[in-house]
Amino acid sequence: VPGVTLSSCDLTMPVIGMGTSSSPPVAPETTKAAIVEAIKAGYRHFDTAFAYRTEQPLGEAIAEALRLGLIKSRDELFITSKLWSSFAEKDLIVPSIRMSLRNLQLDYIDLYLIHWPLKLSQEVRQMPVIREHIFPLDIKSVWEGMEECKNLGLTKAIGVSNFSCKKLEELLSTAKIPPAVNQVEMNPLWQQKKLREFCKVRGIHVSAFSPLGANNTKWGDNRILECDVLEEIAKAKGKTTAQISLRWLYEQGVSSIAKSFNNERMKQNLDIFDWSLTEEESNKISQLPQRKGITFESILGPHDLVLELDAESLDDC
Ligand code: A2P
Repeated sequence: VPGVTLSSCDLTMPVIGMGTSSSPPVAPETTKAAIVEAIKAGYRHFDTAFAYRTEQPLGEAIAEALRLGLIKSRDELFITSKLWSSFAEKDLIVPSIRMSLRNLQLDYIDLYLIHWPLKLSQEVRQMPVIREHIFPLDIKSVWEGMEECKNLGLTKAIGVSNFSCKKLEELLSTAKIPPAVNQVEMNPLWQQKKLREFCKVRGIHVSAFSPLGANNTKWGDNRILECDVLEEIAKAKGKTTAQISLRWLYEQGVSSIAKSFNNERMKQNLDIFDWSLTEEESNKISQLPQRKGITFESILGPHDLVLELDAESLDDC
């Protein structure tokens, strides 16, 4: 799997990573077994988050892969985790990453992201969240906490997730270490051209979650997997719509976090590097009608503040 070099750190990230979050959640043993299979299939990049509750099974899978000799050392893997919004306060950030490291049984992670550009109170135990528990993020002080994680060697790179151009501008105006990555929803039906261009100019790598449309989740559907235009291109090339979507993202310079716990499909999703899309095929994809899948509202429930934040990221498409 080819890699992309991240800014502000001497680090290469494989352009296809395996997502570990299942919706609805699955047993930790199922997650662990799927990750071990993914390592056997050639995956070296795994994406987790405190909120997914998959740090522990990922840590166990890494330990098992080392025991089985599937990898010689932990350094062969690229591991991403994310700061949960209830801990988005300067003094809680180093303790949070230490908690994630304990869950993962690791000394460092490769990339630590701010999960969402908002803060939740610590009482939040379940969704939907009540209005009184949602606050704006203090970007300056939270980023200082993220920078401290990097300076302490607890993570090699730091970045953000679900940030709009406006939020990135605010962050860049105060950051000593600029964010290496912005992980956002992206696929042929939510191309976010403006955000991609904004990030390119500023050396921020864009990583796509829901690259296949997050079928079976609360916010996702089969509109990518069953899109007519993608199906037609896939048929002509002897590929699948999932592969066309992942290849299109790769050709835009975007890495993908594609989740599959099925052996055949996880292999299929890595098989996108020895063929390419023609100009005509790319043009057809760029003209697809756009629709946003995930919203803060679909995660947190309906509130004025989350609707406001969503309106901001809608400006970025
Ligand atoms: P499964 O785990 O059974 O393979 P996303 O990565 O956009 O979040 O999408 C994940 C969803 O897409 C999961 O339901 C996953 O199911 C399914 N999926 C992953 N890879 C493929 C593929 N190559 N073809 C069809 N469905 C896929």
